[in-house]
Amino acid sequence: MNLNKKMEGALDAQLQLEAYSSYLYLSMSAFCHSINLKGFGHWMRQQSHEEHHHAMKIFDYMVERGNWVSLLALEKPAHAFKSVRDVIESSLAHEQKVTAQIHKLYELAGQQKDYATQMMLQWFITEQVEEEATVKEILEKLKRISDKGSAILYLDKELGKRAATT
Ligand code: FEO
Repeated sequence: MNLNKKMEGALDAQLQLEAYSSYLYLSMSAFCHSINLKGFGHWMRQQSHEEHHHAMKIFDYMVERGNWVSLLALEKPAHAFKSVRDVIESSLAHEQKVTAQIHKLYELAGQQKDYATQMMLQWFITEQVEEEATVKEILEKLKRISDKGSAILYLDKELGKRAATT
């Protein structure tokens, strides 16, 4: 059975937000490289890949339901950050926004009695818990080391080891 028009529009908007997330993390990666924190840059690039994967998960689901996906325009992502800590704080705020959006979508699917979409969204609900926790952990480390250059370089090396997960 096809998604109804309301669910279709809401999933188009979620796909847009995931695609924007991918674009935003790529912008954050560019900033990190610009200040020679290659590990952070690598980590953000991996994050960008993950977000692309999230967008494609929604795309594939909509196609599977027999709907016609409508791709929406993406805004220009933030570009000038104050510091790497600003990048990570912005990333956490963004993930919190995505989590709230996923929860609204889940509620909408419930109202529409669209149980298949609720099942699909459960993966995203779990993923958001993990994403927020990971970013919070990096932020806590950054707060602890303050602006000690050598510690930031150590953390940069650690983040540079992030493997592809998709
Ligand atoms: Fe796909 Fe980080 O939200």
